[in-house]
Amino acid sequence: MSSITKTVLVTGATGGIGLAVCRRLAKAGCSLVLAARDTGRLEKLCNELSQNFPAGSYSWLGVDMTRDDSVRQFAGQLNTRHMVLDGVVLMPPQDPPTNDPLPDSDKWREILQNSFVGPLSLLAAAIATMKPDPANGKRCKVVIISGISSVQVLGHYASSNVIRCAWLAEAKTLAFALGERGIHVNTLSLGGTLTPGYATSLDKRAASAGVTFEQRLAEETSNVPLRKYGAPEEVGAAVEGLLSAFSDHMTGINLQHDGGFTRAY
Ligand SMILES: NC(=O)c1ccc[n+]([C@@H]2O[C@H](COP(=O)([O-])OP(=O)(O)OC[C@H]3O[C@@H](n4cnc5c(N)ncnc54)[C@H](OP(=O)(O)O)[C@@H]3O)[C@@H](O)[C@H]2O)c1
Repeated sequence: MSSITKTVLVTGATGGIGLAVCRRLAKAGCSLVLAARDTGRLEKLCNELSQNFPAGSYSWLGVDMTRDDSVRQFAGQLNTRHMVLDGVVLMPPQDPPTNDPLPDSDKWREILQNSFVGPLSLLAAAIATMKPDPANGKRCKVVIISGISSVQVLGHYASSNVIRCAWLAEAKTLAFALGERGIHVNTLSLGGTLTPGYATSLDKRAASAGVTFEQRLAEETSNVPLRKYGAPEEVGAAVEGLLSAFSDHMTGINLQHDGGFTRAY
């Protein structure tokens, strides 16, 4: 893909989805800045990418997106290293699933800080490095990884329902504000995605229901038109699309990556 965004920051780079996204983008010729908390895993991933995809350059920055001091340090590092980003793949940390729609005020403040306020200040720092030049075809692109509770209420993701909608509103607002500069902001809302972590939790659900992994998987995906969960590699392909010429006239959209699970128009 010739017109893929060149230097891309990927947060959550070492996670089940992040790894697949990084490998896909590296294969497409991007240079990557990898971010997460565990610097040992970041370094290992950097080495793996350098070995397997030598066309790009790879670096990493440790950051805890939930903490203001850590995000400030991260922003300082972007400046010190004179980094210019053309793209960002932001994976805000998700609060644990809960059925409680009315957590107390302190809990709400914590959820908002961890899943919205902190990651948003990281995004602001990343956007500040961008130098788009749309008159000469240089567009910068932000992809925010969201979830399908952005478009429908899921009972066991009570606080996520709210946070995901906040991200959609933020993305639309940023798209409106930054479009003229040539900065695109889109969200990718994932349905169940079979990462190693998700497979482990599915395995546990199968064991407690006394069925096999395959039986449980078939049961859980029986209401998904494509009858499967997404694969991390499929998310990688969609992210690549949103960073490529495919999205040159698209901003503020929420792309659902859920096998058709969401039925609303
Ligand atoms: N898997 C699914 O079915 C699914 C469905 C819908 C949406 N999503 C969304 O997709 C994204 C990635 O999911 P995943 O399944 O790949 O998760 P994962 O395997 O748990 O990976 C999470 C990644 O984020 C990093 N991370 C976690 N907390 C962080 C923090 N406070 N600051 C900085 N980095 C942090 C982790 O590295 P460190 O621990 O080293 O920081 C890791 O790289 C999440 O936003 C999730 O909500 C996933």
